[in-house]
Amino acid sequence: MKKILVTGGCGYIGSHTLIDLIDNGFDVVSIDNNMRSNMSQLQTVEQITKRKIKNYNIDICIKTEVEKVFEEEKNIEGIIHFAALKSVPESVENPLLYYHNNLQSLIHMMQVAEKFNVQSFVFSSSCSVYGNADELPVTELTELRNAESPYGYTKQIGERIIHDFVKKNSSINFLLLRYFNPVGAHESALIGEVPFDKPNNLVPIITQTAIGKMKQLTVFGNDYPTRDGSCVRDYIHVMDLANAHTKSLQFLIDKKNETNYDIINIGSGTGNTVLEAIKAFEEVSGIKLNYQIGGRREGDTIAVYADITKAKTLLGWVPKRDLKTMMLTSWNWEKQMQTKK
Ligand code: WQD
Repeated sequence: MKKILVTGGCGYIGSHTLIDLIDNGFDVVSIDNNMRSNMSQLQTVEQITKRKIKNYNIDICIKTEVEKVFEEEKNIEGIIHFAALKSVPESVENPLLYYHNNLQSLIHMMQVAEKFNVQSFVFSSSCSVYGNADELPVTELTELRNAESPYGYTKQIGERIIHDFVKKNSSINFLLLRYFNPVGAHESALIGEVPFDKPNNLVPIITQTAIGKMKQLTVFGNDYPTRDGSCVRDYIHVMDLANAHTKSLQFLIDKKNETNYDIINIGSGTGNTVLEAIKAFEEVSGIKLNYQIGGRREGDTIAVYADITKAKTLLGWVPKRDLKTMMLTSWNWEKQMQTKK
């Protein structure tokens, strides 16, 4: 079995991707220092997949630590680099933490991949690189705008670092996946998104409001130029996002790539407003959500959603789960977490 190294394997997207990789015949190993995750998520992945998964609890910002992993783990065929800090508001409060952590870790992963001759590298990028795009849906050729936050800039700069590296080195083949809004949970409801602290993202706030952990949800603005006045986003089920990584690695390992650097949007290809997301949740849960309309949130883009033609044609990947499934699996996970208390 081909072995894949996943950084951030204990995190939300990382843990769901481990499941999809194993389901598709890969062997996996994780690096995660649990700064924003916990080992219980990995233990549950082992329970679901019935596979023992080794996690190296090291700081990727210390290169010698990363090299030790590659010395110990022979024949790593590919890398998926998830490990990064990803809170937009936190990045505004603490930009140096974000620039150091997200960029230093990427540079080390690239240097070690080169040293140990790992030729397939999937990088976790983000739709936040588009900022307030002029055209919708955004394609991979859409001109990038200001990233709106240090977090978004770490993804823009990360893409630039890889771009400049491949101009001089052809040893590694990169795919950069621009995620839209990852939501939902594994159908078993045994794993899902575990907000590190108070959640900032819409869907965990919806489910925490519904279960009573939060009093009321505030819709950040209903006076935008959209069909119902609230912002438009492209929500993508985390298991569909996970499968996009598996397909990306298979594509690189099978040497189907014509270049050693390519960018691919991974979204549902559908834009939904905040109010539509709330309505979908109410329909699948049977719960009337307690929300109010508030002012706009600084830094929010009005509308963004993906053109996913390239993912379909290049990877043969299509999202399978709709908005209602995203809401239902999120809700089932929230209820499961409650029983664990
Ligand atoms: C979605 C919409 C809010 C909370 C996220 C990640 C970012 C990146 C892209 C990966 C917005 C509205 C939210 C609330 C609300 N992902 N909202 N009330 O800002 O699109 O960014 O996806 O790289 O890392 O953060 O997601 O869930 O915060 O907001 O009205 O209490 O929901 O205004 O329109 P966002 P979000």
